[in-house]
Amino acid sequence: MKIAFFDTKSYDKASFERLGIDNNIKFKFYETKLNEDTVRLASGFDGVCIFVNDTASKAVIDALYEYGVKIIILRCAGFNNVDLKAAEGKITVVRVPAYSPYAVAEHTMALILTSVRRIHKAFVRTKSFNFSLSDLTGFDLYGKAVGVIGTGKIGKIFINICKGFGMNVLAYDKFPDKNADLNYVELDELFEKSDIISLHCPLTDETYHIIDRESIGKMKRGVLLVNTSRGALIDADALLEGIKSRKIGGACLDVYEEESDFFFEDYSSHIVEDDVLARLISMPNVLVTSHQAFLTEEALANIAQTSIENVLEFFETGKCKNEVVAHE
Ligand code: NAI
Repeated sequence: MKIAFFDTKSYDKASFERLGIDNNIKFKFYETKLNEDTVRLASGFDGVCIFVNDTASKAVIDALYEYGVKIIILRCAGFNNVDLKAAEGKITVVRVPAYSPYAVAEHTMALILTSVRRIHKAFVRTKSFNFSLSDLTGFDLYGKAVGVIGTGKIGKIFINICKGFGMNVLAYDKFPDKNADLNYVELDELFEKSDIISLHCPLTDETYHIIDRESIGKMKRGVLLVNTSRGALIDADALLEGIKSRKIGGACLDVYEEESDFFFEDYSSHIVEDDVLARLISMPNVLVTSHQAFLTEEALANIAQTSIENVLEFFETGKCKNEVVAHE
Protein backbone atom coordinates (compact mmCIF):
# COMPACT_ATOMS: atom_id res chain seq x y z
CA MET A 1 0.00 0.00 0.00
CA LYS A 2 1.17 3.50 -0.83
CA ILE A 3 0.05 6.32 1.42
CA ALA A 4 0.63 10.05 0.85
CA PHE A 5 1.27 11.61 4.27
CA PHE A 6 0.47 15.35 4.49
CA ASP A 7 1.55 18.04 6.98
CA THR A 8 4.44 15.84 8.17
CA LYS A 9 6.39 16.83 11.26
CA SER A 10 9.57 15.11 12.48
CA TYR A 11 7.71 13.40 15.34
CA ASP A 12 5.12 11.96 12.88
CA LYS A 13 7.82 10.54 10.64
CA ALA A 14 9.58 8.93 13.60
CA SER A 15 6.42 7.18 14.80
CA PHE A 16 4.97 6.12 11.41
CA GLU A 17 7.99 5.17 9.30
CA ARG A 18 9.11 2.09 11.24
CA LEU A 19 5.58 0.75 11.74
CA GLY A 20 4.97 1.25 8.01
CA ILE A 21 8.04 -0.80 7.07
CA ASP A 22 6.99 -3.57 9.48
CA ASN A 23 3.54 -3.74 7.87
CA ASN A 24 4.43 -3.31 4.22
CA ILE A 25 2.96 0.18 4.00
CA LYS A 26 5.01 2.73 2.06
CA PHE A 27 4.62 6.33 3.19
CA LYS A 28 5.54 9.36 1.10
CA PHE A 29 5.99 12.18 3.60
CA TYR A 30 4.96 15.66 2.39
CA GLU A 31 5.49 18.71 4.58
CA THR A 32 2.75 20.62 2.81
CA LYS A 33 -0.87 20.45 3.98
CA LEU A 34 -3.55 18.78 1.89
CA ASN A 35 -5.80 21.29 0.14
CA GLU A 36 -7.08 22.08 -3.36
CA ASP A 37 -3.64 23.30 -4.46
CA THR A 38 -1.72 20.27 -3.21
CA VAL A 39 -4.17 17.43 -3.80
CA ARG A 40 -2.44 16.42 -7.06
CA LEU A 41 0.46 15.12 -4.91
CA ALA A 42 -1.87 12.26 -3.92
CA SER A 43 -2.14 10.97 -7.47
CA GLY A 44 -0.98 7.36 -7.67
CA PHE A 45 -1.49 6.63 -3.97
CA ASP A 46 -3.96 4.24 -2.33
CA GLY A 47 -4.63 6.52 0.60
CA VAL A 48 -3.88 9.90 2.18
CA CYS A 49 -2.98 10.40 5.83
CA ILE A 50 -3.96 13.82 7.18
CA PHE A 51 -4.09 15.84 10.41
CA VAL A 52 -6.25 18.59 11.90
CA ASN A 53 -5.27 21.45 9.60
CA ASP A 54 -5.39 19.61 6.30
CA THR A 55 -8.51 20.28 4.25
CA ALA A 56 -10.58 17.49 2.73
CA SER A 57 -13.27 19.65 1.16
CA LYS A 58 -15.64 18.44 -1.58
CA ALA A 59 -13.24 19.64 -4.30
CA VAL A 60 -10.32 17.83 -2.63
CA ILE A 61 -12.35 14.63 -2.17
CA ASP A 62 -13.57 14.67 -5.77
CA ALA A 63 -9.97 15.01 -6.96
CA LEU A 64 -8.78 12.20 -4.64
CA TYR A 65 -11.55 9.97 -5.97
CA GLU A 66 -10.52 10.72 -9.53
CA TYR A 67 -6.91 9.77 -8.66
CA GLY A 68 -8.12 6.42 -7.31
CA VAL A 69 -7.45 7.18 -3.62
CA LYS A 70 -9.59 4.85 -1.55
CA ILE A 71 -9.08 5.93 2.03
CA ILE A 72 -8.56 9.12 4.04
CA ILE A 73 -6.68 8.23 7.21
CA LEU A 74 -7.19 10.91 9.85
CA ARG A 75 -4.39 10.67 12.39
CA CYS A 76 -6.56 12.53 14.91
CA ALA A 77 -9.97 12.19 16.58
CA GLY A 78 -11.78 15.27 15.21
CA PHE A 79 -13.07 15.14 11.62
CA ASN A 80 -14.56 18.61 11.15
CA ASN A 81 -12.02 19.26 8.35
CA VAL A 82 -13.46 16.48 6.16
CA ASP A 83 -16.62 16.88 4.06
CA LEU A 84 -18.10 13.51 5.01
CA LYS A 85 -21.12 13.96 2.74
CA ALA A 86 -18.83 14.44 -0.25
CA ALA A 87 -16.86 11.31 0.70
CA GLU A 88 -19.97 9.12 0.98
CA GLY A 89 -19.86 6.23 -1.47
CA LYS A 90 -16.50 7.40 -2.84
CA ILE A 91 -13.78 7.31 -0.21
CA THR A 92 -13.70 5.69 3.23
CA VAL A 93 -12.74 8.05 6.06
CA VAL A 94 -11.13 6.57 9.19
CA ARG A 95 -9.83 8.20 12.34
CA VAL A 96 -8.13 7.51 15.66
CA PRO A 97 -11.06 7.88 18.07
CA ALA A 98 -8.90 8.09 21.18
CA TYR A 99 -5.13 8.26 21.43
CA SER A 100 -4.64 9.76 24.80
CA PRO A 101 -7.54 11.60 26.32
CA TYR A 102 -5.26 11.96 29.37
CA ALA A 103 -2.78 14.01 27.31
CA VAL A 104 -5.45 16.60 26.42
CA ALA A 105 -7.10 16.65 29.85
CA GLU A 106 -3.74 17.05 31.62
CA HIS A 107 -2.66 19.83 29.23
CA THR A 108 -5.94 21.60 29.97
CA MET A 109 -5.16 21.59 33.69
CA ALA A 110 -1.54 22.62 32.97
CA LEU A 111 -2.84 25.70 31.14
CA ILE A 112 -5.28 26.55 33.92
CA LEU A 113 -2.64 26.26 36.66
CA THR A 114 -0.12 28.24 34.62
CA SER A 115 -2.62 31.02 34.06
CA VAL A 116 -4.16 31.11 37.52
CA ARG A 117 -0.82 30.96 39.39
CA ARG A 118 1.00 33.19 36.82
CA ILE A 119 3.71 30.56 36.30
CA HIS A 120 4.45 31.91 32.80
CA LYS A 121 5.32 35.29 34.30
CA ALA A 122 7.29 33.90 37.23
CA PHE A 123 9.36 31.71 34.90
CA VAL A 124 10.43 34.67 32.77
CA ARG A 125 11.11 36.84 35.84
CA THR A 126 13.28 34.40 37.77
CA LYS A 127 15.30 33.64 34.60
CA SER A 128 16.57 37.23 34.90
CA PHE A 129 16.87 37.03 38.71
CA ASN A 130 13.79 39.18 39.25
CA PHE A 131 12.33 37.70 42.42
CA SER A 132 9.55 40.25 42.89
CA LEU A 133 6.07 38.87 43.58
CA SER A 134 4.13 41.91 42.41
CA ASP A 135 1.17 41.09 40.13
CA LEU A 136 1.64 37.36 40.65
CA THR A 137 -1.36 36.90 42.96
CA GLY A 138 -3.47 33.96 41.83
CA PHE A 139 -6.53 32.26 43.31
CA ASP A 140 -7.27 28.85 44.85
CA LEU A 141 -8.93 26.34 42.54
CA TYR A 142 -10.37 24.60 45.61
CA GLY A 143 -14.08 25.40 45.93
CA LYS A 144 -14.31 27.18 42.55
CA ALA A 145 -16.99 26.25 39.99
CA VAL A 146 -15.70 24.78 36.75
CA GLY A 147 -18.11 24.43 33.83
CA VAL A 148 -17.28 21.58 31.46
CA ILE A 149 -18.97 21.59 28.04
CA GLY A 150 -18.75 18.10 26.52
CA THR A 151 -18.45 15.13 28.88
CA GLY A 152 -16.96 12.54 26.54
CA LYS A 153 -13.60 10.83 27.01
CA ILE A 154 -11.52 13.99 27.55
CA GLY A 155 -14.22 15.92 29.42
CA LYS A 156 -14.69 13.11 31.94
CA ILE A 157 -10.95 12.77 32.66
CA PHE A 158 -10.68 16.54 33.03
CA ILE A 159 -13.63 16.48 35.45
CA ASN A 160 -11.85 13.86 37.58
CA ILE A 161 -8.74 16.03 37.68
CA CYS A 162 -10.87 19.01 38.76
CA LYS A 163 -12.55 16.93 41.47
CA GLY A 164 -9.07 16.09 42.74
CA PHE A 165 -8.56 19.82 43.27
CA GLY A 166 -11.82 20.05 45.24
CA MET A 167 -13.61 22.05 42.52
CA ASN A 168 -17.37 22.05 42.00
CA VAL A 169 -18.09 20.70 38.53
CA LEU A 170 -21.04 21.88 36.43
CA ALA A 171 -21.40 19.74 33.32
CA TYR A 172 -23.23 20.26 30.05
CA ASP A 173 -23.55 17.79 27.20
CA LYS A 174 -26.09 17.57 24.39
CA PHE A 175 -26.16 13.83 25.09
CA PRO A 176 -25.66 13.54 28.86
CA ASP A 177 -24.21 10.26 30.12
CA LYS A 178 -26.96 8.88 32.35
CA ASN A 179 -24.54 6.42 33.96
CA ALA A 180 -22.02 9.05 34.97
CA ASP A 181 -22.24 10.65 38.39
CA LEU A 182 -22.15 14.20 37.05
CA ASN A 183 -23.95 17.39 37.94
CA TYR A 184 -25.52 18.18 34.55
CA VAL A 185 -27.00 21.67 34.20
CA GLU A 186 -28.45 23.73 31.35
CA LEU A 187 -25.91 25.64 29.29
CA ASP A 188 -27.13 29.04 30.54
CA GLU A 189 -26.72 27.97 34.16
CA LEU A 190 -23.19 26.77 33.40
CA PHE A 191 -22.37 30.14 31.81
CA GLU A 192 -23.85 32.06 34.75
CA LYS A 193 -22.26 30.11 37.61
CA SER A 194 -18.81 29.01 36.40
CA ASP A 195 -15.54 30.64 37.47
CA ILE A 196 -13.73 28.61 34.81
CA ILE A 197 -15.29 27.24 31.59
CA SER A 198 -13.54 24.48 29.64
CA LEU A 199 -14.61 23.24 26.20
CA HIS A 200 -14.47 19.52 25.38
CA CYS A 201 -17.19 19.10 22.75
CA PRO A 202 -16.58 18.53 19.04
CA LEU A 203 -16.89 21.30 16.46
CA THR A 204 -20.21 20.90 14.63
CA ASP A 205 -22.67 23.31 13.00
CA GLU A 206 -24.38 23.44 16.39
CA THR A 207 -21.28 24.12 18.50
CA TYR A 208 -19.71 26.61 16.04
CA HIS A 209 -19.20 29.81 18.10
CA ILE A 210 -20.88 28.27 21.15
CA ILE A 211 -18.89 30.99 22.92
CA ASP A 212 -19.97 34.25 21.31
CA ARG A 213 -21.00 37.75 22.44
CA GLU A 214 -24.33 36.48 23.75
CA SER A 215 -22.91 33.62 25.82
CA ILE A 216 -20.04 35.76 27.10
CA GLY A 217 -22.69 38.27 28.21
CA LYS A 218 -24.18 35.62 30.50
CA MET A 219 -20.87 34.73 32.18
CA LYS A 220 -19.45 35.84 35.51
CA ARG A 221 -17.19 38.86 35.39
CA GLY A 222 -13.59 37.60 35.47
CA VAL A 223 -14.36 34.12 34.09
CA LEU A 224 -11.40 32.07 32.79
CA LEU A 225 -12.15 30.53 29.37
CA VAL A 226 -10.25 27.42 28.32
CA ASN A 227 -10.34 25.84 24.87
CA THR A 228 -8.35 22.70 24.09
CA SER A 229 -10.98 21.35 21.69
CA ARG A 230 -11.43 23.24 18.39
CA GLY A 231 -10.77 26.92 17.66
CA ALA A 232 -14.09 27.78 16.04
CA LEU A 233 -16.01 26.89 19.21
CA ILE A 234 -15.07 30.44 20.25
CA ASP A 235 -15.79 33.59 18.26
CA ALA A 236 -12.29 35.08 18.53
CA ASP A 237 -13.50 38.68 17.95
CA ALA A 238 -16.02 38.32 20.78
CA LEU A 239 -13.31 36.83 23.02
CA LEU A 240 -11.01 39.78 22.35
CA GLU A 241 -13.83 42.23 23.09
CA GLY A 242 -14.60 40.37 26.33
CA ILE A 243 -10.97 40.55 27.41
CA LYS A 244 -10.70 44.24 26.56
CA SER A 245 -13.86 45.03 28.54
CA ARG A 246 -12.46 42.99 31.51
CA LYS A 247 -15.54 40.74 31.42
CA ILE A 248 -13.25 37.80 30.68
CA GLY A 249 -10.52 37.47 33.27
CA GLY A 250 -8.29 35.22 31.19
CA ALA A 251 -8.14 32.77 28.32
CA CYS A 252 -6.15 29.58 27.79
CA LEU A 253 -6.18 28.55 24.15
CA ASP A 254 -4.61 25.46 22.64
CA VAL A 255 -6.68 26.01 19.51
CA TYR A 256 -7.67 29.13 17.56
CA GLU A 257 -10.27 29.76 14.90
CA GLU A 258 -7.79 30.57 12.14
CA GLU A 259 -4.98 28.38 13.45
CA SER A 260 -4.40 26.48 10.20
CA ASP A 261 -2.55 29.53 8.81
CA PHE A 262 -0.07 29.56 11.69
CA PHE A 263 -0.07 26.69 14.15
CA PHE A 264 2.70 24.07 13.98
CA GLU A 265 4.98 26.50 12.07
CA ASP A 266 7.73 28.93 13.18
CA TYR A 267 6.56 32.49 12.47
CA SER A 268 9.05 34.15 14.82
CA SER A 269 10.74 36.04 11.96
CA HIS A 270 7.53 36.99 10.16
CA ILE A 271 4.99 39.78 10.46
CA VAL A 272 1.83 38.01 11.60
CA GLU A 273 -1.09 39.30 9.53
CA ASP A 274 -3.84 38.10 11.87
CA ASP A 275 -4.57 41.13 14.08
CA VAL A 276 -6.92 39.25 16.39
CA LEU A 277 -4.37 36.51 17.12
CA ALA A 278 -1.60 39.07 17.57
CA ARG A 279 -3.75 41.14 19.96
CA LEU A 280 -4.82 38.07 21.93
CA ILE A 281 -1.22 36.92 22.31
CA SER A 282 -0.22 40.43 23.45
CA MET A 283 -2.65 40.23 26.38
CA PRO A 284 -1.06 39.45 29.76
CA ASN A 285 -3.97 37.16 30.69
CA VAL A 286 -4.04 35.07 27.50
CA LEU A 287 -1.99 31.88 27.16
CA VAL A 288 -1.66 30.27 23.76
CA THR A 289 -0.18 26.87 22.94
CA SER A 290 -0.25 25.76 19.32
CA HIS A 291 -2.53 22.70 19.32
CA GLN A 292 -0.08 20.91 21.57
CA ALA A 293 -2.48 19.23 24.00
CA PHE A 294 -2.24 15.84 22.27
CA LEU A 295 1.55 15.83 22.05
CA THR A 296 2.81 13.15 24.41
CA GLU A 297 4.92 10.09 23.66
CA GLU A 298 2.00 7.83 24.55
CA ALA A 299 -0.41 9.65 22.24
CA LEU A 300 2.01 9.63 19.27
CA ALA A 301 2.59 5.89 19.65
CA ASN A 302 -1.18 5.24 19.86
CA ILE A 303 -1.90 7.45 16.83
CA ALA A 304 0.61 5.58 14.65
CA GLN A 305 -0.48 2.14 15.88
CA THR A 306 -4.22 2.75 15.38
CA SER A 307 -3.71 4.42 11.98
CA ILE A 308 -1.70 1.44 10.71
CA GLU A 309 -4.35 -0.97 12.06
CA ASN A 310 -7.05 1.10 10.31
CA VAL A 311 -5.20 0.84 6.97
CA LEU A 312 -4.61 -2.90 7.32
CA GLU A 313 -8.21 -3.60 8.34
CA PHE A 314 -9.59 -1.55 5.47
CA PHE A 315 -7.43 -3.11 2.76
CA GLU A 316 -7.97 -6.64 4.12
CA THR A 317 -11.74 -6.48 4.75
CA GLY A 318 -13.03 -3.40 2.89
CA LYS A 319 -14.32 -2.08 6.23
CA CYS A 320 -12.91 -0.41 9.33
CA LYS A 321 -14.31 -0.16 12.85
CA ASN A 322 -12.97 3.40 13.08
CA GLU A 323 -14.77 4.62 9.96
CA VAL A 324 -16.56 7.97 10.26
CA VAL A 325 -19.70 8.57 8.25
CA ALA A 326 -21.93 11.57 7.61
CA HIS A 327 -25.07 11.94 9.73
CA GLU A 328 -28.22 13.60 8.38
P1 NAI B 1 -15.85 12.43 22.66
O1 NAI B 1 -16.57 12.12 21.39
O2 NAI B 1 -15.48 11.31 23.58
O3 NAI B 1 -16.70 13.49 23.52
C1 NAI B 1 -17.33 14.60 22.96
C2 NAI B 1 -18.54 14.92 23.82
O4 NAI B 1 -19.14 16.11 23.30
C3 NAI B 1 -19.61 13.81 23.81
O5 NAI B 1 -20.00 13.48 25.12
C4 NAI B 1 -20.76 14.45 23.02
O6 NAI B 1 -22.03 13.99 23.46
C5 NAI B 1 -20.55 15.92 23.35
N1 NAI B 1 -21.26 16.80 22.43
C6 NAI B 1 -21.57 16.58 21.12
N2 NAI B 1 -22.28 17.64 20.64
C7 NAI B 1 -22.39 18.51 21.66
C8 NAI B 1 -23.03 19.78 21.79
N3 NAI B 1 -23.71 20.34 20.76
N4 NAI B 1 -22.94 20.42 22.99
C9 NAI B 1 -22.29 19.84 24.04
N5 NAI B 1 -21.68 18.65 23.97
C10 NAI B 1 -21.74 17.99 22.80
O7 NAI B 1 -14.56 13.26 22.23
P2 NAI B 1 -13.21 13.48 23.05
O8 NAI B 1 -12.25 12.42 22.71
O9 NAI B 1 -13.53 13.74 24.48
O10 NAI B 1 -12.67 14.83 22.36
C11 NAI B 1 -13.35 16.05 22.50
C12 NAI B 1 -12.79 17.04 21.51
O11 NAI B 1 -11.43 17.34 21.86
C13 NAI B 1 -12.68 16.52 20.06
O12 NAI B 1 -13.88 16.73 19.35
C14 NAI B 1 -11.57 17.35 19.48
O13 NAI B 1 -12.12 18.48 18.85
C15 NAI B 1 -10.76 17.80 20.70
N6 NAI B 1 -9.39 17.29 20.71
C16 NAI B 1 -8.35 18.19 20.83
C17 NAI B 1 -7.04 17.76 20.84
C18 NAI B 1 -5.90 18.74 21.00
O14 NAI B 1 -4.73 18.35 20.79
N7 NAI B 1 -6.12 19.97 21.37
C19 NAI B 1 -6.72 16.34 20.69
C20 NAI B 1 -7.87 15.46 20.65
C21 NAI B 1 -9.16 15.95 20.63
